[in-house]
Amino acid sequence: MNATPPVFHIQTFGCQMNAADSEWLARSLRARGFVEGSFENAVIHIINTCSVRDKPEQKVYSELGRIARFCKVNRRKGITVCVGGCVAQQVGPSLTRRFPQVRLLFGTDGITRAPEAIERLMESPSLRLALLDFSEGYEERFDVRLEVPGQSIAAGLGSFARTPAGAEPGRAEGEHVPPSVFVNIMQGCDNYCTYCIVPYVRGRQKSRRAEAVLHECRILLEKGAREITLLGQNVNSYGQDSGADGTPFAGLLRKVAALPGLERLRFITPHPKDIAPELIAAFADLESLCPRLHLPLQSGSDKILRAMNRRYDTARYRGVVAALRKARPDLVLSTDIIVGFPGETEEDFQDTLRIMQEIAFTASFSFIYSDRPGARAALLPDKIDRAVALERLSRLQEWQNKASDEILESMTGQDCTVLLESRSRWELVLEKDNTGEIAPDPPFFSPEHSRDSSARYEARADQTGVLPGDGEKRPYEAWQGKTPQGFIVNVNLPVKPEKNRSRQGWEGALLPVRIEAAAKHSLKGRQIGAPW
Ligand code: 5AD
Ligand code: SF4
Repeated sequence: MNATPPVFHIQTFGCQMNAADSEWLARSLRARGFVEGSFENAVIHIINTCSVRDKPEQKVYSELGRIARFCKVNRRKGITVCVGGCVAQQVGPSLTRRFPQVRLLFGTDGITRAPEAIERLMESPSLRLALLDFSEGYEERFDVRLEVPGQSIAAGLGSFARTPAGAEPGRAEGEHVPPSVFVNIMQGCDNYCTYCIVPYVRGRQKSRRAEAVLHECRILLEKGAREITLLGQNVNSYGQDSGADGTPFAGLLRKVAALPGLERLRFITPHPKDIAPELIAAFADLESLCPRLHLPLQSGSDKILRAMNRRYDTARYRGVVAALRKARPDLVLSTDIIVGFPGETEEDFQDTLRIMQEIAFTASFSFIYSDRPGARAALLPDKIDRAVALERLSRLQEWQNKASDEILESMTGQDCTVLLESRSRWELVLEKDNTGEIAPDPPFFSPEHSRDSSARYEARADQTGVLPGDGEKRPYEAWQGKTPQGFIVNVNLPVKPEKNRSRQGWEGALLPVRIEAAAKHSLKGRQIGAPW
């Protein structure tokens, strides 16, 4: 590689799986000596896409145009562009013809070999590569030796241990590990819901071996993670494909839950048809399994669910929810809804509203149906007029916003534990008493989010508090974290002296908090006990 490390810049369009893929890619490139930088400084541009709902193709074209214009105006030569994810998988080769700067295409499975390919591109300026094949099994992504100190597991993992060099699984030495991390447990999906493109662009379901999942979790926990979210398109059918090692999903949950250092466990996304009694039992027994579940309903009409090939009906969905709530009475549910699926009548839509009201989801993500290339619903008759679908969507969202606000309001006065993740973007405002004087501790938050998302919160030196343990008065700053039920809480805390570079301030602390007020999508709390 060159003496000066090449600078790369990644843009991600899409879902959580895609964001996790990009994060992995960045880590892997950094471990190989590349440096992450801005759009302007990059010599390697990576565009990672997801086409589950949007049409990211257009975004990719406009981004490729922007890169080409930037290079022309600034006389930048030798720029390498890599396009990955769903768009590469769908329209790949035509991109390289239209945009000569595109030198690497990688699909959702091919990403595992992208770092190596990018190294080769740097060495051979005339090379172009395409990694668009689907792999047979789950391809491990570590470019690392799979050994935890004092324990060699590489032997049991076969082809799993690939490049015997560099840092530990997915995380370079000294790299910052956030308190809450995602761990991939599978790729692809076999469900073929008729609206969905995933089985075509992410391939068939491939479960990762349990030992590999546990290994990555162990290392992340050793490096300071306290909350793990297991990630997959259809997590509860984990283990039911031919490459799997026989561990069922509930078994995997129990194994991860038993790892030392784990405080909280979550997973996304389950399918209602595959919620097994063992998984319901796990919610009853595993304390670290958070009482929050995102369970996509998609529609409240049995007719539409059939047309979507969801393979459950509303009775089954209701039954699953009742069993889950019995096992875990504090369980909070969120969901995905598609409105305007072909053939959806006003009555079908009313059925959706009704079940949403009955189940009282804490949050819902709702989308207007759109045709995806190759997905079967694109061929269905009775497409819904966009204006009708939009009107239904806004009715649904209006109801949900109100319901979500009420749920947040009802949290006031409750005590919970918050896992602090980052400094809050909330502005700290000082509470004024009725004389207009600034009141002493405690300070108060503005109920508005700061409009400028990049604005850094600055502590007010004129507000002080006592940091537990050291007795000294320190200024306050705003921190943000989540409750086990996934509610975002902002809390005001005395500035903590920085001890080491890998953990900043209150990051990673579990803090007992009393909820004092609700804001738009979050809560405001006050510390009521010592953190741990
Ligand atoms: N149209 C609209 N929404 C879709 N989703 C998936 N495919 C489509 C589509 N073709 C939504 C589903 C899914 C979420 C990830 O995206 O609600 O749960
Ligand atoms: Fe798509 Fe259905 Fe698979 Fe989810 S379960 S990824 S909606 S095919």
